[in-house]
Amino acid sequence: GITRHYKFDVKLHNVTRLCHTRSIVSVNGQFPGPRIVAREGDQLLIKVVNHVPNNVSIHWHGIRQLQSGWADGPAYVTQCPIQTGQSYVYNFTIIGQRGTLFWHAHISWLRATLYGPIIILHKRGIPYPFAKPYKEVPIVFGEWFNSDPEAVISQALQTGGGPNVSDAYTINGLPGPLYTCSAKDTFKLKVKPGKTYLLRLVNAALNDELFFSIANHTLTVVDVDAVYVKPFKTETLLITPGQTTNVILKTKPSYPNATFFMTARPYVTGQGTFDNSTVAGILEYESPPNSLHSSIMLPLFKPILPALNDTSFATKFGSKLRSLASAQYPANVPQKVDKHFFFTVGLGTSPCQHNQTCQGPNGTKFAASVNNVSFAMPTSALLQAHFFGQFNGVYTPDFPSTPITPFNYTGSPPNNTTVSNGTKVVVLPFNTSVELVMQDTSILGAESHPLHLHGFNFFIVGQGFGNFDPNKDPAKFNLIDPVERNTVGVPSGGWVAIRFLADNPGVWFMHCHLEVHTSWGLKMAWIVLDGELPTQKLLPPPADLPKC
Ligand code: C2O
Repeated sequence: GITRHYKFDVKLHNVTRLCHTRSIVSVNGQFPGPRIVAREGDQLLIKVVNHVPNNVSIHWHGIRQLQSGWADGPAYVTQCPIQTGQSYVYNFTIIGQRGTLFWHAHISWLRATLYGPIIILHKRGIPYPFAKPYKEVPIVFGEWFNSDPEAVISQALQTGGGPNVSDAYTINGLPGPLYTCSAKDTFKLKVKPGKTYLLRLVNAALNDELFFSIANHTLTVVDVDAVYVKPFKTETLLITPGQTTNVILKTKPSYPNATFFMTARPYVTGQGTFDNSTVAGILEYESPPNSLHSSIMLPLFKPILPALNDTSFATKFGSKLRSLASAQYPANVPQKVDKHFFFTVGLGTSPCQHNQTCQGPNGTKFAASVNNVSFAMPTSALLQAHFFGQFNGVYTPDFPSTPITPFNYTGSPPNNTTVSNGTKVVVLPFNTSVELVMQDTSILGAESHPLHLHGFNFFIVGQGFGNFDPNKDPAKFNLIDPVERNTVGVPSGGWVAIRFLADNPGVWFMHCHLEVHTSWGLKMAWIVLDGELPTQKLLPPPADLPKC
């Protein structure tokens, strides 16, 4: 591989959407931010310089960061944030991954405007396991707020209620013609007939899982989270925040006398308010050569998307995803398990502190938890505390491996909704083979939670509805070709089982990728200890690692 250099100047930049102009935190004055292109095996040196008043840190979502845990990016987990006027060089090598991932800010809600795609090309001379596409196009979904997202979340945390929802979804930063003032801000994909296009889809939205479809066209899914899958055709896909999906679009063999909408709108299982709007882009065939066709082709066909709460679509779609499990791309599913974990994930409440009524349920504050623990962010970085053995007062290595209070999905939920707070972590010896069952709770209503694990891909070996049954369900696990990814939706009112091998020393965050749930505490961290060999050890921190 080669070394590729990028410079990210984090600075303010005026952007107008929906007739609202906002000064946003941007990278290099671009919205969405620049795309990173690299080849499997390349080293990346990305210098991030902070020119804004906010503290900043950037996460390379889905990159395994083998032996480069200092470059992972979540603030107060692997690093202190980069302060105003400071810089940090993220230094990592892409090992054994190819496909699409993305980068985003990993502090507060800055990722609302700080994000961009990471395109990882396969090694030279190694072809795709499908026909080479004519063109490749990133399609990045986002969420636009007319007001400052940092103010939205800080107000919600103060009052204890749900934050204001976004004003639009976007494709590559553009809301499209279904929103006010936005016809000129429409993503257009110009295509030729009879060609194949590889669409690299990224869901960088803050708080919403999305359905996506292109009218009158079928898509073939070939890759998720930078891992090839057994190709399958679908009209519609579901993509949660934190997930990426590569699809092949085959255009019609001749020039259709029409244009086509591509649309995305949310899949919603929770009880709260949400942004119920639709982003549209346009698939436009080039005009035929030497023709008298007018360049405006009508009508515009619109796709039909599943119902907002179509969990049965979500389940079916998830079960179609399978690893290639070929000789060249084997599925290395851990066949034996060293440690079993059972985590409940869901919402709860915490008491209102100011002798006044908060805006959460029954005058409390919303909180969210894993095994009833709402994760409290430390004020210094966990990885440094771990590496230097100075973790007293920073974290405690006593994260519960089972829930403290009973969970229930099928029965009536417990009436005590209160969660506890703590900065608790799980410590794993190097190369522990982990099985983790994550169970959605119904304490404040069932809801799907896209859980993201840093530093690893995992295999989704099973899922189901109702309460997980440790005596019956494991017999049905798929240990042959389960899909491998870094973000999985824990089904609303159900559970999911994942396996991974803890072969990457460091501190690895795990959290719901719905940003509001992360803010409420649905997050925790795994510490993986060093192995014996020099290649199994976390290296010392780089000299420019930011200080708190
Ligand atoms: Cu994309 Cu910790 O997240």
